[in-house]
Amino acid sequence: MNIKVVDSFKKREKADLLVLPFWKGKKEAEATGNFKEFEKTFLMPLKMEDFAGKEGEILFLYDAKNSQEPRLALLGLGEKKECSHEILRRSYAALVRACSGKKLTRLNIYVPQEADGSVILEGILLANYHYLKLKGISLKEKPYFFIESISFIAAKEESLKKTEKLIQSVNFARDLVNGNADHIHADALVKVAEDFTTAYPKVKARILRRKELVKEKLGLLLAVGQGSTMEPALIILEYKGDPKSKKMTALIGKGLTYDTGGLNLKPTGGIETMKCDMAGAAAVLATLQAAAELGLKTNIIAVVAVAENAIGPDSYKPGDVYISHSGMTVEISNTDAEGRLVLADAISYIQQHYQPDCIIDLATLTGGIVVALGEELTGLFSNDDKLANSLIQAGLNTHERLWRLPLLPEYKDKLKSSIADIKNAGSRMASSATAALFLEQFVKKTSWAHLDIAGTAYLSDPKGYHQTPATGVGVRLLIEFLQGQ
Ligand code: BES
Ligand code: MN
Ligand code: ZN
Repeated sequence: MNIKVVDSFKKREKADLLVLPFWKGKKEAEATGNFKEFEKTFLMPLKMEDFAGKEGEILFLYDAKNSQEPRLALLGLGEKKECSHEILRRSYAALVRACSGKKLTRLNIYVPQEADGSVILEGILLANYHYLKLKGISLKEKPYFFIESISFIAAKEESLKKTEKLIQSVNFARDLVNGNADHIHADALVKVAEDFTTAYPKVKARILRRKELVKEKLGLLLAVGQGSTMEPALIILEYKGDPKSKKMTALIGKGLTYDTGGLNLKPTGGIETMKCDMAGAAAVLATLQAAAELGLKTNIIAVVAVAENAIGPDSYKPGDVYISHSGMTVEISNTDAEGRLVLADAISYIQQHYQPDCIIDLATLTGGIVVALGEELTGLFSNDDKLANSLIQAGLNTHERLWRLPLLPEYKDKLKSSIADIKNAGSRMASSATAALFLEQFVKKTSWAHLDIAGTAYLSDPKGYHQTPATGVGVRLLIEFLQGQ
């Protein structure tokens, strides 16, 4: 997208639409700036109370005498004193939706003094994403129009470029998750990682495929992946943004390119969304990309444990016991509790070989978290209050909100096995917590947080600035967290 900033209405160029934001007033909507020269067009509709300035409200008006843009859009931002970053994101997302049905691709947008232009841009860029690769429509008759250029009137310029880079990475994560599982497989994710090393000199990759995984004894990752025709992979990407420092944050993503449930096959109604099961991996890869693009001055190690939980004669079997990388033996009580297995090996391997100061894992781990928190909140489990609180704060800043749940030691009993050191699944009761407790068994003294994004990564309906199922959740959150470190 072509993004420009001009300091006054006078300097704006021709466009399809001029956007004038309004606050919701006591009676009439209130202009957020000096819109005197357009008053003759909007005064009547305001007087008639056809437009109140409610959050996301839009009224298109026309002025044949306006030579710069024949169309005006009044955009409601709600009450001035209640205006938040999220209200700005959502209101401008509503504007994008209103434009995408029409052929409005070049916009002039006034930015109120009270508002942060980069947050507005965030809402616009997030909402301007559609996934068209799987639509069989020809480009000529496409029903979607992307906004191609924006000129912000009176915005501060500094952070717009950064925002654009950040949202490009969010959209990259969305692309990976929205893509077909048959296309976004282990080889494809390995290619993504390799491409990063060519694009970014500060990024180095180490990739373990079946042979190396056997040699390094990642028995759980191998077990989960053994039913698939595609080899599993452990992808490790190092980004050294602060080479003088030894401090390093590990981000670990669950990369189940498809989760059939395995021999404990998922039923109809549960299986259809399971291409989303690599959303943690997508978020981790995209965060590394954003960190490199933005040149963050911090050291990151991004790890994705990739496998397909397929069903077939080679699939791993309920009741069998497998040896993890840590040496702990695991009885498979349910092949559908596969995410915790691949993560356990990744956590163990990374601690042994890289000694990170802190580990944050992201995973579409449990259906239980969707029942508990729905699609608005990511579940958070952590052994470190300080880390948990920083993540919660980053969640509030980005509106990728987290809700902390307990790692209750009592629930560990549910993972007791009579023939192995531990089993991989408890009952339905507190299933998100037992999954987190399983992971905790593989964390040594490292400060650790587990983010269960099963509800927030892949939406059942479009919402606000998310037009497709995949949200790219985690990328904005983690960049905000890493920047605050
Ligand atoms: N990938 C699923 C969790 C999931 C559910 C993600 C819904 C997104 C939406 C995970 O591998 C899984 O199957 N978890 C099981 C564990 C159970 C068998 C102990 C679950 O939560 O039902
Ligand atoms: Mn599963
Ligand atoms: Zn899964």
